[in-house]
Amino acid sequence: MTAAHPAATAPIDPTLDLFAEIERLKRKRKAVILAHYYQDPDIQDLADHLGDSLDLARKAQAERDAEVILFCGVHFMAETAKILNPQKTVLVPDMDAGCSLAEACPADQLRAWKAKHPDHFVVTYINCTAATKAESDIICTSSNARKILDAVPTDRPILFAPDQNLGRWLIRETGREMDLWPGSCMVHITFSERKIIELKTRHPDAEFIAHPECEDHVLRHADFIGSTKRLLDHVATSPKTRFIVGTESGILHTMQKAAPDKELIEAPVESRGGCTACSECPHMKLNTVEKVYLALRDMQPALEMDEEMRKRAELPLLRMLEVS
Ligand code: 13P
Ligand code: SF4
Repeated sequence: MTAAHPAATAPIDPTLDLFAEIERLKRKRKAVILAHYYQDPDIQDLADHLGDSLDLARKAQAERDAEVILFCGVHFMAETAKILNPQKTVLVPDMDAGCSLAEACPADQLRAWKAKHPDHFVVTYINCTAATKAESDIICTSSNARKILDAVPTDRPILFAPDQNLGRWLIRETGREMDLWPGSCMVHITFSERKIIELKTRHPDAEFIAHPECEDHVLRHADFIGSTKRLLDHVATSPKTRFIVGTESGILHTMQKAAPDKELIEAPVESRGGCTACSECPHMKLNTVEKVYLALRDMQPALEMDEEMRKRAELPLLRMLEVS
């Protein structure tokens, strides 16, 4: 299992230029910063590598020179970096940065599901814990899921966990039947079909683009569906000039930089219990520049992982990286 070192306690000197300090500490620690597109703009801008889940897993695998990986994303992503780099220190700015999908499918529950379907091949979305990965035959991301499913022997029925919405989209796309685990992303299920239809009516020239973690009734209005990186590339290369973006709003920062002349509209979400409705992932947004600085200054919190479990989790991840 993974465990955290105790959190840093010494206060931050208020006179410091944190961005300059982060640069200095990065050199001192021989550290590289990997960040997901859903991070705050400041963190995206200070990252050495910015990417979606697949890019970041590849970057973590290819990382040779660094002694430290500081992972700005959520816990399961940092675990992926640790699985692929057991000899490196993997720092996580906030150990509480979880994921509703990872929480939805604990390893013991996946093991019990497998036991009921012993002939099935287990394809698990990368949004899960290392322990859950260790129970899987192969891992996929939203970028490579179709390719991964094509690599599953056609005579083997499939168990797909934990994202039922990605799973449903894949069944439609590939024609491959799968049993689905009932997990979902707390952010991507909040988009409002009614408000999206209204917005499309108001802007008939706009393309609605969406991540496959969105629900079926929202995806059916999408003009383009793809992983975070595919959405980014699509906006940059499409001849269209206006887009309604159905994914976590952090991507808009880098999307706007990649396509400065295009108009990006956040896809509207359902109002939730009186709070301001938004499409921000509360886990991703736990990371701050201050926590990045503290992690590099104090070399904690750092991931630790049981070696036997790491080896079992590495196998299905390496299979994924070979296939994609
Ligand atoms: P991708 O980065 O693979 O598009 O996944 C989105 C996501 O929800 C990450 O948490
Ligand atoms: Fe998990 Fe959804 Fe947040 Fe991604 S956006 S980390 S899938 S809760």
